[in-house]
Amino acid sequence: MVTGWLDGLHRKVGGALERIWNQDVDSEFAKALTHGMLVSNVAYLVSRELNMTEEECQQAAMAGMVHDIGKLQLSAYVDEELKNYMRIDQMRYDRTHPTLGYALLMERQFDERVCDAILYHHENYDGTGYPGNLVGEDIPYLARILRVCDVFAALISERPYREAFDIDTAIELMIDEVRHFDMRVFLAFQRVVQSNELIFAIGKLSMFTSDEFDYEFNKSGTED
Ligand SMILES: [Fe+2]
Repeated sequence: MVTGWLDGLHRKVGGALERIWNQDVDSEFAKALTHGMLVSNVAYLVSRELNMTEEECQQAAMAGMVHDIGKLQLSAYVDEELKNYMRIDQMRYDRTHPTLGYALLMERQFDERVCDAILYHHENYDGTGYPGNLVGEDIPYLARILRVCDVFAALISERPYREAFDIDTAIELMIDEVRHFDMRVFLAFQRVVQSNELIFAIGKLSMFTSDEFDYEFNKSGTED
């Protein structure tokens, strides 16, 4: 069952990330995990709407869960050594997170398609993204899916500097920036938004506690 599979993936990956950084799940780390789970759920649904195979849908869900893993690495590094400099040049550092995440996952022998999706999840369809300024179909398909789901998840989430947008407003804002997205992916995403399943993707999420992350995981998200 889809719900159970995604829940299992989130718990396993969450547990593994917690161990990698040895952090309590009560802070920025928990917010990052919740954001990852939301992107994961939406990416799974959008991939299914695009008639991708179950294996590809699961790769999209995995990529969604770990897409910002480089940010966690970055914040740990910054907290220790670069706090002051980070304030001065935050954007430049922030833009390294796809590359950091890619390197971390490649090191752990994650599927190459998942790694590529992480590396290119901030590329825009019109070539204005980073790190490679890739254009259109040069951007890996999974990365194009993540781009749409990531922007949506960010818009409907609260940020320190603003309230969360409601879904309708989020969609309007995305339409204003639609040149950033693969239109086929964006249309599939809109069909998902109109379905009841999105309620599952959004509403089910709550902050996990440490106890819920019980498992070791390997590259396929299964128990070691
Ligand atoms: Fe990101």
